[in-house]
Amino acid sequence: MSEAKKLYIKTYGCQMNVYDSERMAEAMGGAGYVETDSPEDADMILLNTCHIREKAAEKVYSELGRFKGLKEARPDLKIGVAGCVAQAEGEEIMRRQPLVDLVVGPQSYHRLPELEAKARDGAKALDTEFPLDDKFDTLRKRGGKAKRGPTAFLTVQEGCDKFCAFCVVPYTRGAEVSRPVARVLEEARDLVERGVREITLLGQNVNAYHGQGPDGRDWSLAQLIWELDKVDGLERIRFTTSHPNDMDDDLIEAHGTCAKLMPYLHLPVQSGSDRILKRMNRSHTAESYLRLIEKIRAARPDILMSGDFIVGFPEETEQDFQDTLDLIEAVNYGYAYSFKYSTRPGTPAAERDQVDEAVKTDRLHRLQALITRQQRAVQDAMVGREVGVLFEKPGRLPGQMVGKSDYLHAVHVSDSNLQPGQLARVEIVESGANSLAGRLVTATA
Ligand code: SAH
Ligand code: SF4
Ligand code: F3S
Repeated sequence: MSEAKKLYIKTYGCQMNVYDSERMAEAMGGAGYVETDSPEDADMILLNTCHIREKAAEKVYSELGRFKGLKEARPDLKIGVAGCVAQAEGEEIMRRQPLVDLVVGPQSYHRLPELEAKARDGAKALDTEFPLDDKFDTLRKRGGKAKRGPTAFLTVQEGCDKFCAFCVVPYTRGAEVSRPVARVLEEARDLVERGVREITLLGQNVNAYHGQGPDGRDWSLAQLIWELDKVDGLERIRFTTSHPNDMDDDLIEAHGTCAKLMPYLHLPVQSGSDRILKRMNRSHTAESYLRLIEKIRAARPDILMSGDFIVGFPEETEQDFQDTLDLIEAVNYGYAYSFKYSTRPGTPAAERDQVDEAVKTDRLHRLQALITRQQRAVQDAMVGREVGVLFEKPGRLPGQMVGKSDYLHAVHVSDSNLQPGQLARVEIVESGANSLAGRLVTATA
């Protein structure tokens, strides 16, 4: 038997890309490839890329340049670009970087083995179609039964119809599509059989999920969560990313009543200024967002809120920015991700009056200082509380295990009897720089 070929995948961007990279590795497994951690001994290098901000896209070109030497030493090495940059500028990549043998968009990577075969024959291979066949189905049939870690992502919804004025996702990922409930359940059960205990349901707008249910009707995300709640062995359910406009009452209620649904919600708002929100085409106001959070907290008072913010969106004034800071003060976030507005060609906001780079930088620093204070306070307030922890791997010190709390904080506990995949009740005793230290109260299976 010939030795397996080696595949090196590097993943950029969001969790959906992480999920996609796993599926691509599985698909290539069917074509005789095993994964490797080092590009030096790979027969194929695949970059799974992100197009969300300018820097993310530029990174791809600089990374590709670094493979020049490898390709010269081994002309047999195949180099591929997948993901959102591939979708947005596939042909340009081929032109700009002759090292690239194949380009595959996020909706067609189930065809990767065929593209690889084409590249092996010496042709350039490009596929950035939005095909009608369900790529997930094709991929599932090829997957093996390998053991998995305790946590996994599961994509249930893809694409976006919202067209925020700054964002490339509707162009790179296409229109909103939801996978049927039966397919999601099948994949969830399979993951649990392989050792997974926590599943994070993924979608660019995951709470707009409307997959076909077993009764032929469209099911909501809340209905899907209740169905997953019945899966024995699945202990925790999370979902990301949500849009404020799709946070329906059933989903809010599930946060109060579904024990497996974790008390953490990523609900990006982008700005606290109604003027800017309107120009962003967000179709919600700061006030409606705050009222929504009140409702969510009424259902689940201890829920930890997380958000995304863009500073320096075109025409953002100091007053608009102050409104954003006020909104952050009002919400009290446990986590938040913040970005300087980045011009994306082809999006409406790219054509408008841009904010000075220095002003953007200053606002980002001020916003991040506020967020850091809040995050810190929320984390410190965990000290003295008892929380659930799902342990994932050994920590840095001997006998130490680390895992995530219900609220997604990293927690480490020193107890040599703990195993990865174990759930435990833990009392938080200390709040460190990036994690909490805990003491075991009770360990379950
Ligand atoms: N679908 C999700 C997330 C999309 S991308 C949502 O609607 O919330 C993740 C984050 O990247 C966004 O929430 C936004 O804060 C940021 N982002 C998107 N486009 C951007 C741009 N052009 N410049 C800066 N940040 C951007
Ligand atoms: Fe982008 Fe807006 Fe869609 Fe989120 S909702 S993916 S920010 S267009
Ligand atoms: Fe980036 Fe595409 Fe995700 S642009 S954030 S990898 S959907």
